[in-house]
Amino acid sequence: MAQHGTDAYTGADGLPPLVRHALSAARAHGFPFSCRPEQGRLLHTLAGGARLRIGETGTGLGVGLAWLASGAAPGVRLVSVERDPERARRAAEVFAGRPAVTVLTGDWRRIEEYGPFDLLVLDGGGQGKEPGDAPADVERLLAPGGTVVVDDFTPAAGWPPLHEGRVDRARLHWLEHPALRAVELRLAADLSAVVGTRGCRKVLSSPAVGTARQ
Ligand SMILES: C[S@@+](CC[C@H](N)C(=O)[O-])C[C@H]1O[C@@H](n2cnc3c(N)ncnc32)[C@H](O)[C@@H]1O
Repeated sequence: MAQHGTDAYTGADGLPPLVRHALSAARAHGFPFSCRPEQGRLLHTLAGGARLRIGETGTGLGVGLAWLASGAAPGVRLVSVERDPERARRAAEVFAGRPAVTVLTGDWRRIEEYGPFDLLVLDGGGQGKEPGDAPADVERLLAPGGTVVVDDFTPAAGWPPLHEGRVDRARLHWLEHPALRAVELRLAADLSAVVGTRGCRKVLSSPAVGTARQ
């Protein structure tokens, strides 16, 4: 978890207005765990490719969601879920007047009824990092060609990736997922994210192409 994500914005320029609004809420509420600006810019970029739906687990005070909403095209729906009711309530206030954005209160699995997503950001539940937190089923939750982002890793120094001296099974789950093409992206010297894209079904040859081959 990015312990100092909210503080990392001190002195940052060029932030989208909605991100500044969410940061104000995070600071006012004393919430330190917002996504870092490096992660936010990744989300902003990926959101621009979403066609219909974006999902996020772990809204916090809405900083990552604000990056996503700022990068998404008009008409794209965004749904985020937060289990802490007070955080969810304050985050929802940030997005008041933005009907494309919904903040749900509850366990991350509530998001399942809003998929499939073109972009799914796992930042609180569904990452498979903690005991008892099963990884999200991306074959069900991602649209074909959709992208999943799992953040807050320490960049791997070798293979297999290690966490606290042991093989990092959570990271391997995403990097070796049979339904994904995945890569670890180093966002800063001390921060990386795994980004995976769900493959589309094989495109069948047209009859014309088949005839030409005979
Ligand atoms: C790292 S913070 C989220 C930061 C936020 N996404 C951002 O970019 O600013 C993780 C959040 O996930 C929430 N969370 C953790 N487990 C959860 C679960 N199982 N379901 C829903 N929310 C969860 C925590 O309450 C916390 O607010």
